[in-house]
Amino acid sequence: MGRPFYLTTPIYYVNDAPHIGHAYTTVVGDAICRWQRMAGRDVLFLTGTDEHGLKVAQVAEANGVNPQEWTDRTSARFVAAWRQLDIAEDDFIRTTEPRHYAAVQRFLGAIYDRGDIELGTYEGLYCVPCEDYYTEAQLVDGNCPVHLKPVTAMKEENYFFKLSRYGDRLLEWYEAHPDAVRPGTKRNEALAFIRSGLEDISITRTSLRWGVPVPWDPGHVFYVWYDALVNYVTAIGYGEDPDRFQRWWPAVHHVIGKEILRFHCVWWPAMCMAAGIDPPASVFVHGWLLVGGEKMSKTRLNQIAPADLIADVGVDGYRYHFLRDVPFGADGDFSHEGMVARYNADLANNLGNLLSRVTAVVARKCEGVAPAPPADSPLAAVAAQVSADAAGAWERFAPHEALEATWRLIHAANAHLEDNEPWKAEPGPAVDAVLGAAVETLRIVALLAAPAMPGACGQLWRRLGLGGRPDELRLPEATAWGGYPGGLVLERGTPLFPRIQPD
Ligand code: MSP
Repeated sequence: MGRPFYLTTPIYYVNDAPHIGHAYTTVVGDAICRWQRMAGRDVLFLTGTDEHGLKVAQVAEANGVNPQEWTDRTSARFVAAWRQLDIAEDDFIRTTEPRHYAAVQRFLGAIYDRGDIELGTYEGLYCVPCEDYYTEAQLVDGNCPVHLKPVTAMKEENYFFKLSRYGDRLLEWYEAHPDAVRPGTKRNEALAFIRSGLEDISITRTSLRWGVPVPWDPGHVFYVWYDALVNYVTAIGYGEDPDRFQRWWPAVHHVIGKEILRFHCVWWPAMCMAAGIDPPASVFVHGWLLVGGEKMSKTRLNQIAPADLIADVGVDGYRYHFLRDVPFGADGDFSHEGMVARYNADLANNLGNLLSRVTAVVARKCEGVAPAPPADSPLAAVAAQVSADAAGAWERFAPHEALEATWRLIHAANAHLEDNEPWKAEPGPAVDAVLGAAVETLRIVALLAAPAMPGACGQLWRRLGLGGRPDELRLPEATAWGGYPGGLVLERGTPLFPRIQPD
């Protein structure tokens, strides 16, 4: 077994159908995990659904079903969306599963036993869509700063987690682990929040039944965020299978959107400390996918379902777009025109044309049988550099850079064909050398782009006459120049990425 690589997405609320914002984190997480599997790591990729809380209870009620029925239905929609998007998660966790109840009760029970959970009274301003409390000062025009909707005044007897005891320990921990939150701007945000002073937080509810019961006081259920964060350790056998737990923890990568930084970079590490386990090794925070400059939301009616876009650009075109278009970390504005333009430029033109040109010329000049690559092609050096750059970028969680690098190789191969014009030359060793190098380039591209476009790269692989699938091979070994054996029949077939007419 290779070295462990554990990556999680947030678990998604089931009040809503999956939209391209949820899919964004999931696709990036999936592609990074696919790369790591090819690099020989033993990968655990976890995603799932967050099924408790007031918001879900309210939506279920509005739809006239009980919460469990509602969550079963909506969770299934997430699973269906991930099947459609070629997501290969190793585990899909649902917070209503018995394994999760057991882990939450054990984890929070451990904090209680160690003395960092105490009873108190909570009064505050609550935003239901956020499932979070705000202070007067945090409101924007009297509304929730995220949803810009009114908040509700709440008062309850609650159990409190003594977060106020953890400020110094968190700062020390971040001091000792400078890469624990990336990018650096987000680390600074977490540090500023901790330095501004931490208050104890209310972690149970009595006004609500839809949650995990508090084991030492069954009149209470845990506040949804407290149960939700624990999913990351439920899935690896917390309190159940110590060997399995040790294998994956704390070397985890939590990939999250920026609005849930505080939960993951302040609360969660403090909870881990309080429960007596190490905080997560790394949290990667990305920006929002905006539509027309705004965050998608049900109330703004600007949500887009992945299926709507897949209908236009296919699964691989979809995945490629979201991995390539937005530098992971920053906010990005989605536009349909932008997606179609990039599809046409990068997939239909650059990659698609390289393949159709090569297969057409091999058919004409080599009777359809591809020559082996020459040892000394100028493309060999480009391929080596690109492979190294792509590997570095995937390791840094920078898929857009990895794909940018990969496309440099495609450009170089197209340019090499144009410089040599094998279609005009007489068949012979010179033509074989140019075509062999181009086919080898396509083989290497199929490997490098496989984490982003598993389906299309499998297709490309078969068209080159190769057996198996590119993602069964190991990197970097498989990308070494000269791997293509030659003597294989190329398949012509229809364009891999048919051009799309812009609207
Ligand atoms: N259930 C909580 C997370 C609990 S994790 C222990 C939650 N769920 S959510 O359904 O609202 O999904 C939040 C995550 O979905 C974001 O952190 C982000 O990863 C992804 N996105 C949802 N909308 C998004 C955009 N508009 N843009 C980019 N990502 C977005 O919060």
